[in-house]
Amino acid sequence: MGIDLQDQKNFLLDLFARISGLFRKSGSSLNSRLVLSHLAVSLVSIILMGIFTGRYIFQAANFELEHNLQDLAFAASNAIELPIQEAREGRVQPAFIRELLSRLFADNENIHFTVYNIDGRPIIDSQEEAPPRATRENAPEVFEALASDIGRGVSVRRDEHGDLYMYMAVLVQKEIEVIGILRLAVAMAPSLESARQSFLVMLLVALLIVVGVSLAGWVLANNLARPIHVLTQAAGQMEHGDLGVRVKPSGPQEMHRLAEAFNSMASRLQSNVNELRAFVANASHELRTPLTAVKLRAEALREGAMDEPEIAERFLEEIETEIDRLVRMVNDLLDLSRMEAGLGAGTKTPVNLSTIANEVYETFKIRAARAEVDLRLEVEPGLPPVMGHEDQLRRVFYNLLENAIKYTPCGGQAEMLLQRGSNHDTVRFLVRDTGPGISPEHLPHVFERFYRAEANLPRTGQPRGSGLGLSIAKSIVEAHGGEVGVSSQLGNGTTFWADLPID
Ligand SMILES: Nc1ncnc2c1ncn2[C@@H]1O[C@H](COP(=O)(O)OP(=O)(O)OP(=O)(O)O)[C@@H](O)[C@H]1O
Ligand SMILES: [Mg+2]
Repeated sequence: MGIDLQDQKNFLLDLFARISGLFRKSGSSLNSRLVLSHLAVSLVSIILMGIFTGRYIFQAANFELEHNLQDLAFAASNAIELPIQEAREGRVQPAFIRELLSRLFADNENIHFTVYNIDGRPIIDSQEEAPPRATRENAPEVFEALASDIGRGVSVRRDEHGDLYMYMAVLVQKEIEVIGILRLAVAMAPSLESARQSFLVMLLVALLIVVGVSLAGWVLANNLARPIHVLTQAAGQMEHGDLGVRVKPSGPQEMHRLAEAFNSMASRLQSNVNELRAFVANASHELRTPLTAVKLRAEALREGAMDEPEIAERFLEEIETEIDRLVRMVNDLLDLSRMEAGLGAGTKTPVNLSTIANEVYETFKIRAARAEVDLRLEVEPGLPPVMGHEDQLRRVFYNLLENAIKYTPCGGQAEMLLQRGSNHDTVRFLVRDTGPGISPEHLPHVFERFYRAEANLPRTGQPRGSGLGLSIAKSIVEAHGGEVGVSSQLGNGTTFWADLPID
């Protein structure tokens, strides 16, 4: 019944080795790993539990049997004390005592009894054939009872047929004199059988738990693996260029969030790629126009225009203008991409915007006069400096003012205002003109790259822009933590403003 400690250890080591072998063989799929780990944990805990509770169940069964047998033995020994005494005096036949005991154990058929004489000779026995004289080998419990203080001895051993028996010997005493020894023997098989059945029921329940836990592991693994599988597939599709792929969030909360993050990443990527495509398309289109113009003039010159100095001079001038335009556009594009890549950030220094406003005003004064636009500058005194990059901020002023003068017809007005922002933590630069205004359908787009409100052509004599000026201004202001805005009414002029934070 008892498993040797060494055996148990070896068994457990072997089990661990097998389980880890299984893990190795199972590959690395989440499903098999989760199911196997659930299985392993529950199996090991059930085996450990089985070993400990199994022992306990059998010990408890033994203990109960011993206890019951002892109660019976003491009760019977009391009952036969007087008859034994009388038998010793020859007044009662041993058969009478045998009858008495048989009646006492009528309810416990499987109990055998033997009464030994003080010298170990059996005098009464439940069976026809009396056992041999008690020796330390064949009846150690009898000697234990004689030697013990409480007059009781117990032993468990197999009989000649190999059946396990529990033997309980108690002394029969008259006062302090020992007049005999009563020994009871009971087959242990029935009580062991019922213990074994309890143990089996327990094992069965435990096995059911193992199956349940493994099933739970499987469900859990599926729950986890499915969304991962879906995501992997979606990522694969994206790898092959399908940026429109989205996944349906499912599974546990974390997987939900992962799927949502994947979807928003995909959307972002898609819109970035679309934007990039549009940008490249626009840029090539914009570059192609001046290049074609240059090529046409060059061809005309080669095909004879060169011989007419006046035309040749005009063509060369036009080629120069187109090349200037190209250079400007390429520079703008470079600045824009540098700005959007976060380059040119460098360290910021305190910049006095009033100085910049004055410089830009001086630069445009002559141009405005030539264009017959009345240009005014108004700077609020005592404005604090803002932290930033002077060259970039000058560019904002320049681009806004350039537009105001470029799009305002002769006789119009343009004004530059530099003042504190409405909530006093910004400085606002504002350019207002009395030009044609921008229609509501164009207004939301004017800060986009290459966007031109086609209705608003620059005054004659002014070069046609490439639609990058405002987007550059916006990028710069946003890189400084500020905001840009515009308001306009068709026919009533336009106001652009840029708010730059003070700190
Ligand atoms: N003050 C203004 N009045 C009327 N329309 C304007 C004004 N400023 C800008 N716009 C319109 O907004 C468009 C975009 O302006 P933006 O400065 O970005 O480009 P651009 O002036 O055309 O070219 P670039 O500035 O690159 O030379 C312009 O094409 C024009 O149609
Ligand atoms: Mg412009």
